[in-house]
Amino acid sequence: MEMRCFNKTLFLLVLCYSTSATFMSSFKVWSPNSVNRTDLRCPSDCYKNPDDVHHCCVCKAIPEWHLSLNYKQLSVEYLKCDGSAIVIGDKYSSLPAILNHWDGYLHRLPSNLCDFTNIREIDLKWNKISTIDLISCLSKLDTLDLSYNKIYHILNDTFSLLTHLRILILTHNGLTKLDPFSVAGTSLSITLLDCSWNNMTELDPSNVIPENDFCEYKFNSNKITRIVNKGGFILNSVKIYKGGIVDLTGNLFSKFIDFQELGLKDIRTLGKLMSFGFLLSDAKFDCDCHMEPYLELAELVIKKIWRDYFNMSCWNPLEYRGLSIPNLVLEKKLDLFICNITEKCPRYCRCYHQPHKRTTVVNCTGANLEALPDYVPEAANLTILLKNTKIKTLESRNYLGNATFIDMSDTGFSEVENDIFMQIHNEANFLMKRHNLHDMPRGFQILDPCIAQLGRTVIKCNCNHLWIKTWLENKNAARCEGKTLVICNTDNGHIPILSMNKGDLCASSRIHFKIMSITFGVIAILTFVLSIISYHYRYEIYLVCRQLKSVSNKVNAVCKYDVYFSFDDGNPFLRYWVLNFLDSKLKQEGYRNFIPCRDTIPGDVEEENMINTITNSRIFLVILSKTYEDYDNIWTNLEWKYIWNYFYNNKDRKIVIINYDLIDCPVDLRLKAFIRLGLDVDFANRRHILLDEIKQKLEVPSRGKQSYIRNTKLEFESAKHSVAEQREKSEENHSREMSVVCSSTMILEEII
Ligand SMILES: *[C@@H]1O[C@H](CO)[C@@H](O)[C@H](O)[C@H]1NC(C)=O
Ligand SMILES: *[C@@H]1O[C@H](CO)[C@@H](O)[C@H](O)[C@H]1NC(C)=O
Ligand SMILES: *[C@@H]1O[C@H](CO)[C@@H](O)[C@H](O)[C@H]1NC(C)=O
Ligand SMILES: *[C@@H]1O[C@H](CO)[C@@H](O)[C@H](O)[C@H]1NC(C)=O
Ligand SMILES: *[C@@H]1O[C@H](CO)[C@@H](O)[C@H](O)[C@H]1NC(C)=O
Ligand SMILES: *[C@@H]1O[C@H](CO)[C@@H](O)[C@H](O)[C@H]1NC(C)=O
Ligand SMILES: *[C@@H]1O[C@H](CO)[C@@H](O)[C@H](O)[C@H]1NC(C)=O
Ligand SMILES: *[C@@H]1O[C@H](CO)[C@@H](O)[C@H](O)[C@H]1NC(C)=O
Repeated sequence: MEMRCFNKTLFLLVLCYSTSATFMSSFKVWSPNSVNRTDLRCPSDCYKNPDDVHHCCVCKAIPEWHLSLNYKQLSVEYLKCDGSAIVIGDKYSSLPAILNHWDGYLHRLPSNLCDFTNIREIDLKWNKISTIDLISCLSKLDTLDLSYNKIYHILNDTFSLLTHLRILILTHNGLTKLDPFSVAGTSLSITLLDCSWNNMTELDPSNVIPENDFCEYKFNSNKITRIVNKGGFILNSVKIYKGGIVDLTGNLFSKFIDFQELGLKDIRTLGKLMSFGFLLSDAKFDCDCHMEPYLELAELVIKKIWRDYFNMSCWNPLEYRGLSIPNLVLEKKLDLFICNITEKCPRYCRCYHQPHKRTTVVNCTGANLEALPDYVPEAANLTILLKNTKIKTLESRNYLGNATFIDMSDTGFSEVENDIFMQIHNEANFLMKRHNLHDMPRGFQILDPCIAQLGRTVIKCNCNHLWIKTWLENKNAARCEGKTLVICNTDNGHIPILSMNKGDLCASSRIHFKIMSITFGVIAILTFVLSIISYHYRYEIYLVCRQLKSVSNKVNAVCKYDVYFSFDDGNPFLRYWVLNFLDSKLKQEGYRNFIPCRDTIPGDVEEENMINTITNSRIFLVILSKTYEDYDNIWTNLEWKYIWNYFYNNKDRKIVIINYDLIDCPVDLRLKAFIRLGLDVDFANRRHILLDEIKQKLEVPSRGKQSYIRNTKLEFESAKHSVAEQREKSEENHSREMSVVCSSTMILEEII
């Protein structure tokens, strides 16, 4: 206690000395703007710089009672051991009063405090005070020091009536909350606020941006992570917020103050705030796209007035850690402030928003892409970097309309979809150097050759390329040959299209056109002739193809009959030859033959029966006689029609033609084709080897399947007719009888 007393006396002595010393340097009566009072004195030093008088006085003004030492000291007397106390002194004196009580046991303010309306200063450091509601009655209070107490919460009406309060010290209280507008507001004009070393986690902007000029607000060494606008604070856009330093060091900030959240719709008005500074040197800032707009606005201010309290440095991202933010601003490196975008970012690409360039970048440089990405992040002003990719075709994509910069150089793309010109903005920087285009799509016309860059483009020019010349001339492309230069590959070498005249361009094309049209005419005539020929010889072509194919894949059909004889059984000589010679010879070789006039059951529906037999036969032996030159022989033609159709639709069937009457010109074109191709067996010329030739054409009978065939045959025979049985018994008898049957068939036919 003695020590404290000594300290106190020393303090007063020093105070007296210093104040009397400054008194010498003369003071002027000064009043803050917000309140009318006459008890403050501002040192004359402050008047040296006329621009800064007010702010200087805000910081340096001294109450008149300190200068005159004309005040009363009050003291505290405890009533109970629970820390309740009263103030002792002269309540009725008109002199300013000061109440000091350090290191005591006060749990609340002395109960009779409001009786002492003249109290100007209270200093109750190192007590245990937790409630201070009573203080609001001391309307003339100028200085309040409650550090090292237990005040956890400041309500919005605690100080609201203390219009004269200039100095408020609340350090080391474990303070967790300052209500919105509790220490700053229209009626308050606290110039020095010290809330450092407390337990605050959030800060309301209304307590950080005072309405009235201030000297220093200290919120350092709390646990503040962010500034949250819960009190509905709105920056007044016509007011100039003047002030000093807001010390926010030693907190846990990571985001820069979001002034937009403070109702600052137009962030440019932030410049008004910049007459005071935020001390944030140790804040762990995220140097990303969210910070960039504020820095952009601060750029001018930072350049003009370099103040320590702009000492802020980046913490995230890691590669920027420790970089001074003001330095980045001064070095014009605001481009570094970006935010990565992962949503809709194409594979192998990197996407980020870059506010300084007002763009969103999709960087696929060198990526393993073979086509334009299907999607990119949705944003205006896209920068799409596709340099060095493997894209071959420029296809249309919706996002191209939002692109302001597209880099397609070094991709060697060779195709362009015309639609993309409808999408790409004609002001877009579209780099396409070192492409692989052999011609220029007309769509390029909408681009500006001095903004879009095609690079050196060599094409074969003709009359159709006249538009390129006009386009380049209209856009005055001669001034930007480094960007776009179209060159014609002519017989005289490479010539820029701008140096060629219309005649040059179209001359070469005329020759070209002549050659083209002649070539086209020849091709057309050839095609016409060829198609006529191939139509005429369509069956020949078919037969040749079929033979070629049958060589490669032989299918052995299993049929009831090996050979179906088709011939004009009205010709007696032919019938005789067939029945008595050919049939028996082939039967000896093991062929199962079907001769319609012999093997058809009289009374059956003939056409149906014929079709049925044809489908059950492997080879059709057609013997051409004069009747085949006759259009009117309906039956022969009908039979031939079915045989051909069946042959045509079944690749395992065969037709063998024997030209019995040596006719050259059968009515049917398909038969003609056989003869023209020499596929027939000539009856006259090779008589001696006729049978061999026929057998060779028929190929071997399908013996392998004999047993199966037998069975079916037996069924067939038992079910049908005795003719077949007889045939098995006696060869000669059989033939004779057959001629009778054949004749009867003929008679039947005639009746029909
Ligand atoms: C202070 O008093 C003057 C006149 O005495 C008056 O014009 C002014 O409005 C007052 N200011 C305030 C804040 O009350
Ligand atoms: C204090 O806050 C309460 C709500 O918490 C509000 O109703 C009241 O108007 C505020 N008072 C002042 C003086 O701002
Ligand atoms: C601040 O809060 C923590 C717990 O959140 C507590 O341990 C600490 O004592 C408080 N500080 C003060 C000064 O009250
Ligand atoms: C900036 O702040 C850091 C850390 O707080 C400090 O070490 C450094 O000296 C400061 N620089 C300036 C120029 O004030
Ligand atoms: C963005 O992503 C890149 C690469 O993944 C990384 O190096 C950088 O730190 C990220 N930047 C930010 C601001 O997150
Ligand atoms: C796009 O760019 C224009 C011109 O630079 C700019 O005015 C506009 O604000 C930008 N848009 C966005 C969303 O960045
Ligand atoms: C794009 O990516 C490439 C390679 O990853 C890099 O070299 C280039 O600097 C990047 N460009 C931009 C503008 O991000
Ligand atoms: C194009 O930009 C507009 C904003 O200007 C945006 O709404 C739209 O989603 C963007 N489109 C694409 C495909 O990115």
